[in-house]
Amino acid sequence: MTKLRLIYVLMLLAPLFAGAQTKQPLVNGEQWLDTAGNPLNAHGAGMLYHDGKYYLYGEYKKGKTILPEWATWECYRTDVTGVSCYSSPDLENWTFEGIVLPAVPDDPDHDLHPSKVLERPKVVYNTKTGKFVMWAHVESADYSKAAAGVAISDSPTGPFTYIGSFRPNDAMSRDQTVFVDDDGKAYQFASSENNQTLYINELTDDYLRPTGRFTRNFIGQSREAPAVFKKDGKYYMLSSGCTGWDPNQAELAVADSIMGEWKVLGNPCTGKDADKTFYAQSTYVQPVIGKKNCYIAMFDRWNKKDLENSRYVWLPISFDNGTITIPWRESWSPADL
Ligand code: DGJ
Repeated sequence: MTKLRLIYVLMLLAPLFAGAQTKQPLVNGEQWLDTAGNPLNAHGAGMLYHDGKYYLYGEYKKGKTILPEWATWECYRTDVTGVSCYSSPDLENWTFEGIVLPAVPDDPDHDLHPSKVLERPKVVYNTKTGKFVMWAHVESADYSKAAAGVAISDSPTGPFTYIGSFRPNDAMSRDQTVFVDDDGKAYQFASSENNQTLYINELTDDYLRPTGRFTRNFIGQSREAPAVFKKDGKYYMLSSGCTGWDPNQAELAVADSIMGEWKVLGNPCTGKDADKTFYAQSTYVQPVIGKKNCYIAMFDRWNKKDLENSRYVWLPISFDNGTITIPWRESWSPADL
C-alpha cells in the first residue's frame, strides 16, 4: 500500500476508534474533555453511582461572565443554562448525557430563568420511590433568595422535573450537598444564616422536603462548599471558608452521629498550595465503588472572571496510618487506584 493510501485508510477508520474508552489520566487544573472532545462543563458538581455507572451533575456554565451593575461584592455569574449530566464507567471517560434540568428562558419569575443563579446541584437515588432527586442552591437575581430547589426524575439522565424551591426549616440555604446514609435516610447540608452557620436538615423518606429535624453546626464559623462522606462508621465533612470565588484553606470535620456534634480535625490538604486548597474549593467526595478505602475529593478551581473556563481538581484521599490527608498530585489515573 502506498503511503497516501495508508493515510486514507487510517482516516476512514478513525471514527471507529473515536468512541473507544481509553485511559485518560486526570491532569488537575488542565481542561478536561468529554468523550466527544468537548470541554467537561459540570461545576460545583456532585456524583451518583447507579447500576454500574458514575453520573456527574454540575452547573453548566456557558457564555460571558458578568458582574451585575448593582454588585457591591464579587458576585460574578453566567446566565443560568441548567444542570449538565455526564456518565462514566471508570471515572476517566465522561460521556455528555445532556442538560438534564434546563433553564426556563420564557418565564422571568421562574427560579431557573437565565437571570437567576443556580449552583451546586446534587442528585441522590431513592430506593423506596425509584426516583432520582436533585437538590440545588437557587438564588434570585439579587442574591437574596437563599433557597433550595428540588427536581425529580425517573432516570439518572433526566429529564428532571422542577418541583419548586423553599428555605429548609425556614432558614437560608446556599452552598449545599445531600448525603444518603446506609439506612436510606437523607440529609441536606447547607450554609445558612448568611453563610455563618451550617445546617444539617434531615429529609423526608421521599427526599423531597425537610422533616423538621435539623441541627445548627459550626456556628459563626462561615463554612461553605460542604462535601460529606462516611468511612468505618464515622461521618466526615470537607468544607471551605467563605471568601467568594477566591480560594482559602479547607477544613475536615468528623462526627459519630450525622446530625452532630462535629469536631474539627483541621486542614487535610498537603503539598504544594495546600494552604489555599490547591487554588480550588471542595464540591463533593465520591467513594470508588468496589475499592476499599478509596475516595475521591472533588474541587473546583474557579476562574471568577471567566467562570465557564473554571477547572477541576480531583484527588484521592489518603488514609495512611489512620490520618486523613488529601495530598497534591499533578495528575493521576482512577484506573491506578
Ligand atoms: C462561594 C460558593 O462556594 C460558590 O458556589 C459561589 O456561590 C461563590 N461563593 C459566589 O461568590
